[in-house]
Amino acid sequence: MSKHIQPIKPVLTSIMLASMALVPVVSFAAGEAVPKSAPNAAVMTGSHFQAPDPSTIPNDEFGKMVQLGRNIMFETKKYAPQYVGNSLNCVNCHTDGGAMAGSAPLWGAWVSYPAYRGKNKKVNTYEDRLQGCFRYSMNGKMPPLGSDVLVALSAYSYWLAKGLPTGDNKIAGRGYPDLPEPKQAPDFVRGKTVYEANCAICHAANGQGRVVNGTVVFPPLWGAQSFNWGAGMGSIKNAAKFIFANMPYGQSYSLTPQQAWDVAYYMDGHERPQDPRWQGSVAATRAKYHDSKNSLYGTKVNGVLLGDTGAPKPFEP
Ligand code: HEC
Ligand code: HEC
Repeated sequence: MSKHIQPIKPVLTSIMLASMALVPVVSFAAGEAVPKSAPNAAVMTGSHFQAPDPSTIPNDEFGKMVQLGRNIMFETKKYAPQYVGNSLNCVNCHTDGGAMAGSAPLWGAWVSYPAYRGKNKKVNTYEDRLQGCFRYSMNGKMPPLGSDVLVALSAYSYWLAKGLPTGDNKIAGRGYPDLPEPKQAPDFVRGKTVYEANCAICHAANGQGRVVNGTVVFPPLWGAQSFNWGAGMGSIKNAAKFIFANMPYGQSYSLTPQQAWDVAYYMDGHERPQDPRWQGSVAATRAKYHDSKNSLYGTKVNGVLLGDTGAPKPFEP
């Protein structure tokens, strides 16, 4: 079990055990690759990289920055409060504090920047890339370049990547494992069935997750406290890949690829905070930033025109 959820371990353990008992035996359509059920995302990535153990973080000025970066990953709002606008932590999508292969590990990212990104049409430094996570995934504000928050996250990523070749941007374990295109177009109603059977026990039927004694035990998947419409997880392709390799928590690769696509569609077919790149209307924002079959923004799903919530709310830490 990950370190950050240890304080509330008894609660988590009981919920997880309950959920495992409820998981139905999955059946696979003929011809669909049968993924082997595995306890974590790394197993199917072919990665053999071993990030250093946190107990070896040096006890000096550099080590302090590495430790701060690690703390920010696990408890983002506590350690970077001025930049976070929701109740997520970086670790929720980068499991094991960004060390886990197949869960967009920070070591795979560190050796891959600077890089050109179509998202903002320029060559991004590693710090530029980190800024985007705060703006979209954390529905927050970008920490300034050179700020302690970005320096600490960079120091931690550099430390995690020890021994990896710089520039190997296709290193095994980077990002999420590829997922074949779905045989059937992803579907809201089928996704709801997958959600209710495999996800609601932890993330709740209304997608808002669970808070125990003021601590977010299971993060919200949509709504005001989740990632906003500009985030990478808002692409059903990214979401399907993440979910296939990482969810249900502790049961990586137990869904079929089709189930992962359907439940990603269901999750991303709900309202969430406005895209901060708002162009004055849903149609104009879709045309400029969401003109893709992987984005449901600006489309009608289950009777709702997604993103039709007006200008972004002013940032509140
Ligand atoms: C809601 C889920 C989510 C949260 C929370 C989140 N990220 Fe990410 N992150 C993603 C996704 C999805 C991608 C891949 C995006 C893409 O390919 O466009 C990503 C990509 C990245 C990358 C680049 C990875 C690569 O290999 O290029 C870095 C670095 C990163 N995130 C850091 C962070 C940090 C630091 C935080 C917290 C401040 C954070 N993320 C919070 C979902 C999240
Ligand atoms: C046993 C409890 C459990 C189950 C079941 C579960 N999750 Fe999660 N989920 C978690 C936990 C815990 C995290 C945060 C992981 C971390 O911080 O290391 C998480 C994180 C996530 C995230 C990224 C953070 C966010 O809020 O956007 C997504 C997306 C997600 N889960 C989707 C799903 C989907 C879809 C399913 C069903 C297929 C599912 N989960 C089933 C416990 C669970």
